[in-house]
Amino acid sequence: VKSANPAVPFLDVGAMHAELRSRLDAAYGRVMDSNCLILGPELEAFEREFAQYCGAKHCIGVGNGLDALFLALKAMLIGPGHEVLVPSNTYIATWLAVSYAGATPVPVEPDPRTYNLDPQRIEAAITARTRAIIPVHLYGQPADMDPILQIARRRGLRVLEDAAQAHGARYKGRRVGALADAAGFSFYPAKNLGALGDGGAVVTNDADVAMAVRVLRNYGSPFKYDHAVKGHNSRLDELQAAFLREKLAVLDDWNARRSHIARRLLDGLAPSGLQLPYVPAWAEPVWHLFVVRSAARDALRSALTGRGIATMVHYPVPPHRQPAYRELGLGEGALPIAEAIHREVLSLPMFPQLKAEHLHHIVGACVDAARQLH
Ligand SMILES: Cc1ncc(COP(=O)(O)O)c(C=O)c1O
Repeated sequence: VKSANPAVPFLDVGAMHAELRSRLDAAYGRVMDSNCLILGPELEAFEREFAQYCGAKHCIGVGNGLDALFLALKAMLIGPGHEVLVPSNTYIATWLAVSYAGATPVPVEPDPRTYNLDPQRIEAAITARTRAIIPVHLYGQPADMDPILQIARRRGLRVLEDAAQAHGARYKGRRVGALADAAGFSFYPAKNLGALGDGGAVVTNDADVAMAVRVLRNYGSPFKYDHAVKGHNSRLDELQAAFLREKLAVLDDWNARRSHIARRLLDGLAPSGLQLPYVPAWAEPVWHLFVVRSAARDALRSALTGRGIATMVHYPVPPHRQPAYRELGLGEGALPIAEAIHREVLSLPMFPQLKAEHLHHIVGACVDAARQLH
């Protein structure tokens, strides 16, 4: 019997896997039969296919998205004594990558409409120690790259895209990942292109950065037992690479389904009075998350929970207010735009297998709740 109010999960990994089961089983079989589990043909093929997908020359598979960002920074020789500009409104991994490299993250506030790095606020944050900028394509929405790249060129800074949430997104027609000096991707299972475990990649057009990341991910070793530098162990394994090849083949289709769902949500929620995602004319987002904003966020969330709709908050506490970054001495009110965003955003369910009846229920429940709250 169909319930009038279907429970809506935030993300249904089971439904994703059910759709691809035979392909994923075949990928597993290929790796089992190959007897090659690390740095083998599946990884080489995935690196070639994902570089081509992004329109870039090189892709280097690594252990996760945090390592992708950190190793890219190290490959660019960014380290102790250097500062790297990061968005105040991002997942903490962006900041941690800078800290891992031994450099200091310097937050820059976002544009409150797009939630992405505000190019107009960058210059004021640059000092003699600044070496790089990391724009994040947050929630799958591309950051405004041209003005960021112009400032970086003028001031001699590197630009590293954090594309962990934006596989396939386009900026002025060009795919993210190939817009700057390098990009870091995450293949955490919930991402648009997710593995069946942890995974990540650096994508770049810069042959020197590519070679340096290749060496750094494998004990600093360009050839077996030849250790040029003190490297790391951070490799994308054969099994994850094989799964990712199957999922890359459906990425555009799954992103198109996310876009269709986003369109339905944008239309359906227009009368709600909630602040809806803003998509600039030059952006083709991939809707990793569908984030609405309300001054009554917690009450909205409770109302949706009460109607069986799972939601999440990305993210409840900004990096500068986390105990991990106490040393920066950035108290309450230091970065008011990020703090307000973190107090007010709510992520609604968004995944390619979301059903029409789920969408209908989400829209109805949000409109009802918003009417009572605003
Ligand atoms: C914006 C952003 N950067 C970096 C990461 C780090 O990726 P991973 O979890 O694969 O280390 C994530 C995801 O967790 C992320 O959302």
